[in-house]
Amino acid sequence: MKEYMLKKISDKSIVVGVVGLGYVGLPLAVEKAKAGYKTIGFDVQFQKVDMVNKGQNYIGDVVDRELVNLVDSGNLEATTDFSFVKNVDFIAICVPTPLDKHQQPDISYVKNSAEEIAKYLTKKTIVVLESTTYPGTTEDLVKPILEEGSGLKCGVDFYLGFSPERVDPGNIIYKTKNTPKVVGGVGKDATEVIAAMYRSVLEGEVKEVSSPTIAEMEKILENTYRNVNIGMINELAMLCDRMGINIWEVIEAAKTKPYGFQAFYPGPGLGGHCIPLDPYYLSWKAREYGFHTSMIESSMSINDKMPEYCVGRAVRILNKYEKSLKMAKILVVGVAYKQNIDDYRESPALEVIKILEESGALVEFYDPWISEYKYQGKIHKGKQNIKPEQVEKYDLLIITAAHSNVDYVMLQKHAKNIFDTKNVMKDIKNRENIEVL
Ligand SMILES: NC(=O)c1ccc[n+]([C@@H]2O[C@H](COP(=O)([O-])OP(=O)(O)OC[C@H]3O[C@@H](n4cnc5c(N)ncnc54)[C@H](O)[C@@H]3O)[C@@H](O)[C@H]2O)c1
Repeated sequence: MKEYMLKKISDKSIVVGVVGLGYVGLPLAVEKAKAGYKTIGFDVQFQKVDMVNKGQNYIGDVVDRELVNLVDSGNLEATTDFSFVKNVDFIAICVPTPLDKHQQPDISYVKNSAEEIAKYLTKKTIVVLESTTYPGTTEDLVKPILEEGSGLKCGVDFYLGFSPERVDPGNIIYKTKNTPKVVGGVGKDATEVIAAMYRSVLEGEVKEVSSPTIAEMEKILENTYRNVNIGMINELAMLCDRMGINIWEVIEAAKTKPYGFQAFYPGPGLGGHCIPLDPYYLSWKAREYGFHTSMIESSMSINDKMPEYCVGRAVRILNKYEKSLKMAKILVVGVAYKQNIDDYRESPALEVIKILEESGALVEFYDPWISEYKYQGKIHKGKQNIKPEQVEKYDLLIITAAHSNVDYVMLQKHAKNIFDTKNVMKDIKNRENIEVL
């Protein structure tokens, strides 16, 4: 089977399937199709499938023209019909891995997609899970579902592996194509074939590891590393404020050390589908082994408190002007979870707004990337443009995302007060109305 698959990869006769056409799956499907593979995208949302088939792009990291060309040439198509799985040779699973309401892994999307794939899995197919998950998911959950549902044997009839997705939406240097990949297959042959497949498409290094579990764990390590370091710097930011020290200047100074230090920055909390959630997958799994991940829990609790801390700082600013939070007019600038993207999943700005509103403040938001968002069942509509005379009417502006297409000079000139949680106004000379986190 190995030689057969390697030959099909080298002559590009493999048909690729990508399950889940979101922030990860659509760019991946586009790269595979661009590399010359006929590619079929699978999703349960008809609207996304329909848009792909019409060449309509909905993901910032995908180039509109490329999508149109791939669809027009017949290299890329999408469907909600999983029976087309029988036509593909390589399947990448890129479905969501969120948390449930008890902050525990919700693995149902992985389970459901594996069950659908299993119904139509044929011999000599490669299945790769790319969704971020706890160590053991590929071998303990996906493998039995695929084997039982298809009647086929992993390693004999089909190959299975895990290769974490590392895409960083909005990153202008590292895209799907040039970001290094890690591959861990169930067995050496699977690893070799899966790695060959990625090498045929991507420019970055493809690192082979000894098992899917290593690959799953290394992805969680990457994201836990970020989570814990951000937790530490948020804690130091709160301490520095109490001590009257500017944390941003401290970080800039520490950054001059050429080794042993990597800069992380404070902010209003953690956002996105990965960094705030993934460490919970690990701490949940750790409990099975009677192990308490105290450092993760500690950083989670610091990061989770940041929106409330930011509101406390806003109250302090308003107090200086004898203004109460109740009935204060506040503009939140940037509701995306990070700069220059339109994704607001888990964005801490939404929690900041919620707490402000619960305290009676009159809150509006301005985000050039996002016109409206839904949070806890409620739709919030905002501004995508703002004029100087509109800025003047607010008692306070709170900057919660460092978008580069916002006119911060104009905001500073016309705002009464600004609380800059991202230090995005660092180069503005007149700082009378600016306070940083
Ligand atoms: N977004 C990121 O920056 C990023 C980065 C690295 C890794 N990841 C990981 O990649 C995975 C996917 O994340 P995303 O941001 O692309 O999610 P997403 O919500 O943008 O996309 C997931 C897609 O899967 C579809 N889907 C759900 N269930 C399905 C099913 N049973 N069959 C077919 N399609 C189904 C959804 O409709 C959606 O279109 C997650 O595990 C995430 O942790 C995300």
